[in-house]
Formats: sequence, structure tokens, C-alpha cells
Amino acid sequence: MIVLGIETSCDETAAAVLEDGTTILSNRIASQVEIHARYGGIVPEVASRQHTLAIIPVIAGAMAEAGVGWDRIDGIAVTIGPGLAGSLLTGVNTAKAISLARGLPLAGINHLEGHIYASWLAGDVPEFPLVCLIVSGGHTDLVLMKGHRDYTRIGGTRDDAAGEAFDKAARMLGLGYPGGPAIQQAAAEAAAPVRLPRAWLKGTNDFSFSGLKTALLRLVEAGEVTSPADAAAGFQEAVVDVLVTKTVAAAGEYRARQIILAGGVAANRRLRERLVAVSPLPVVIPAPALCTDNAAMIAACGCFRFESGLADGLDIDVVPGLRLASGE
Ligand code: KG4
Ligand code: ZN
Repeated sequence: MIVLGIETSCDETAAAVLEDGTTILSNRIASQVEIHARYGGIVPEVASRQHTLAIIPVIAGAMAEAGVGWDRIDGIAVTIGPGLAGSLLTGVNTAKAISLARGLPLAGINHLEGHIYASWLAGDVPEFPLVCLIVSGGHTDLVLMKGHRDYTRIGGTRDDAAGEAFDKAARMLGLGYPGGPAIQQAAAEAAAPVRLPRAWLKGTNDFSFSGLKTALLRLVEAGEVTSPADAAAGFQEAVVDVLVTKTVAAAGEYRARQIILAGGVAANRRLRERLVAVSPLPVVIPAPALCTDNAAMIAACGCFRFESGLADGLDIDVVPGLRLASGE
């Protein structure tokens, strides 16, 4: 089975062609990061305009690189939410147009589900039940997965998402945008990481990063940050410490067989290393390029959907506030 994936939920216009659920034939991304960097964050109107400019060339590029004609495509998987409405619309309407023109089945995919399915592209096939930590710019969720399409949200952030916290901390330290990679890079130069507080929220599987953010802001405002690298390393360490400790504890509580790390922040080197070092369970982490937004993960999720005999019709629509699962 060959699936075309399309992802436009935020600021990356992405298309990928995936064979048999695991072989990536092409994985194209047109990043808008330089445009939004001028504003220090994503400007939704600018993002949707860029998507409309980029979507056709990106899909054409992915198809050409894959070297398969449209006749070989068996279905189209597209992100319907969560995300920015204008951005999502470009991908969904393009997918619908191709579906109609070529008579191809559609699968409307939850972006967070896509992040989870990036793990099926990592080589080791995840085993259920598993606990998945999704850490991205917009989300920080702990999800129990007992099988395909069987999700229970068992915890998550009460304030900022982990990626959002990285982005804000980088801005405070003048390290630029996007913040996650900037903090990681600065932290690598640290001589004496600053000790910052951790919110453990004991007895829950929830997270909170606002206290940590405020603690860093106080240091900056008091002029006590002499080395941005030391502050960046202290911040990264505090976030990683809480994420790793609580994810491992939740996996134990729910008797999971494996842990999956997903989402843009899963590209963080320190987080990857610590989780693997601390976890008594096998940990599945996609390659960094498959952790940040991409369309191969959307195609991977779509492939499972089509193989289960499920497909959506042309009536799918964007759902900007789409959730993965209830159950908290
Ligand atoms: O999954 P993603 O690409 O987009 C969303 O769905 O939000 O995640 C983007 C987030 C940003 O906040 C970015 O700063 C963060 O992932 N990120 C990182 C790293 N690479 C990206 N955070 C920490 N370390 C990284 N290496
Ligand atoms: Zn994402």
C-alpha cells in the first residue's frame, strides 16, 4: 500500500509518500521558520498564505522524489487538527481536491496521533500497552495506548506546553526562535548549569512549567544571568528531569510494556538520552527529523487506518481544537 501524507497544521508545509507503512519514499518539508523568526513566533495569517504558495510544489516534489505515478497511490492521509484553522484548510482542501480528481480514499488524521505514529517509522515496532509522552509546541500529554486507535489521556500540562516553555525561555535569554534547538545548542556550551525549580505535582501525571518560567524570568530581570548557556542548561535540565521522571513513573503505574517519545521536543538530545538511561522499559524514539512536524508520520497513521478498512469521505473538515482522547 502506498499512501500520500499531507501536513499543514502549523508552519511547515509537508508532503510524504510512504510504502507499506514503514518505507519512506519521500518526505518533503517547506519550512516557514525564517519568515516567522522575524516576528519571534508564528503569525497565523502569514502561515496560511505561505501554505497556499507551497502546497502544490511540495506535493509535486514528494511525488517526483518517490518515483511513483499517481496510479500507484492507494490513499491520501491529511491532518485535520489540532492546529491553526487557516493552515489546516490548505492541506485538507488540497487533499480533498486530489481525492475527488483521482478517486482516492481519504483519511483525516489527528496531528497528535501522527506524532505517535512516527514511532512506527523508527524501526522497532512498538508493543501495547504503551505510554506515550507527546511533547510539542502546542501540547504536552501523557497518553496510554492499549492498541491502535485506543487512547486514554492519563496526564498533561496544566499550563505551558514543553515546547512553548522552551520557546519562551529562549526568548528571555535572547537565544532566538525556535527556542528548543537554540536552548539545546546553548546548553551544550554550559560550564555550570543554573539550578532551577521543578514542579512535581505529586500524586498526578500532570506537568507545570509556569513556575520554572517565572524563576528564569526573575533571574533575567535581576541581572543574575551572567552566562545564557548556564541558564539554558539549567532550564533544559529542569524540563527534562520532570518529563523523564514522571513518564517513567506513569509507565510503571499503568504496567506499560514500552514508552514512546513523540513531538517536536522529542528531538531534544538531552531528553532522548535521559529517558533511555532512566527507563527500565524499552523506549521508542523516532529520528529527530521525524519528531518535528512532517507528513511521513501522517501517512504512517493513514496507512494503519486504510489497512483496517477505514476511510473518510469528502465531508471531512478541519477541527482546530481536535483532541486525541478524553479520560483525564
Ligand atoms: O511538533 P512540533 O514540530 O510542532 C508542533 O506540533 O507544535 O514541535 C515544535 C516545538 C517547538 O516548540 C520547538 O522549540 C520544539 O518543538 N523543539 C525542540 C527541539 N526541536 C524542536 N525543543 C527542544 N529541543 C529540541 N531540539
Ligand atoms: Zn507537531
